[in-house]
Amino acid sequence: MPQRVGLALDLWMTTLTALWLMLPAYMSNMLPVFVGGGRPIDGGRVWKDGKRVLGDGKTWRGLLLAPLAAAALTFPLQWLAENTAWGAGLGFPAWGPFPAWFVLAFMLGLGALTGDAVESFFKRRTGRDRGDRWFPFDQLDFVVGALVFALLGATLLDLVGLTEGNLFFSLFTWGRLLVIVLLTPALHLLVNFIGYKIGAKDVPW
Ligand code: CTP
Ligand code: MG
Repeated sequence: MPQRVGLALDLWMTTLTALWLMLPAYMSNMLPVFVGGGRPIDGGRVWKDGKRVLGDGKTWRGLLLAPLAAAALTFPLQWLAENTAWGAGLGFPAWGPFPAWFVLAFMLGLGALTGDAVESFFKRRTGRDRGDRWFPFDQLDFVVGALVFALLGATLLDLVGLTEGNLFFSLFTWGRLLVIVLLTPALHLLVNFIGYKIGAKDVPW
């Protein structure tokens, strides 16, 4: 294979595997629209500025059920990577050995929604109401949260001996991290626009 073709293929696979590995975070970030609702995390309380601490858009059900559902939905993907040519042949990685992969997938999801909730706190402080847009923080809050929590989870898994070495560093290479940070905002805007068109979201962002 000519060298340039090899390089282009590498870049393409780095991109695809990076987005693949973030699927638990992406799914978790989309799921609260369906599984969220009920008691808000801030319990309805307001901050010193008279605005809500987080707002009615951040609920306990969304924060906890969405990551659990995302980790469960990762199971068929994990299975594909472990048992079919999707993994060994094409090179799409699994999220680690059992049971570590489930913990990592859950942490990616929980981190995504924690990042989202932290962003809402600052969003309220800047006077933006629930659902208002705040580019690029709406697009990146959950990415940063997911990666930080994945790093914490992987470090813990390593410490208790459930993995050999830190899963985060073997899966989230610098190249993949770069792809994730650069491409997620565009993907996020696209998915939300589709969500709006099919009626799942009230606003197109
Ligand atoms: N949601 C939830 N619990 C969460 C996060 C989200 O129930 N922890 C639900 C809410 O119904 C929310 C919807 O998912 O309205 C979409 O989430 P998001 O776009 O992050 O919230 P916004 O309504 O835009 O609120 P904010 O301005 O605080 O981001
Ligand atoms: Mg948000």
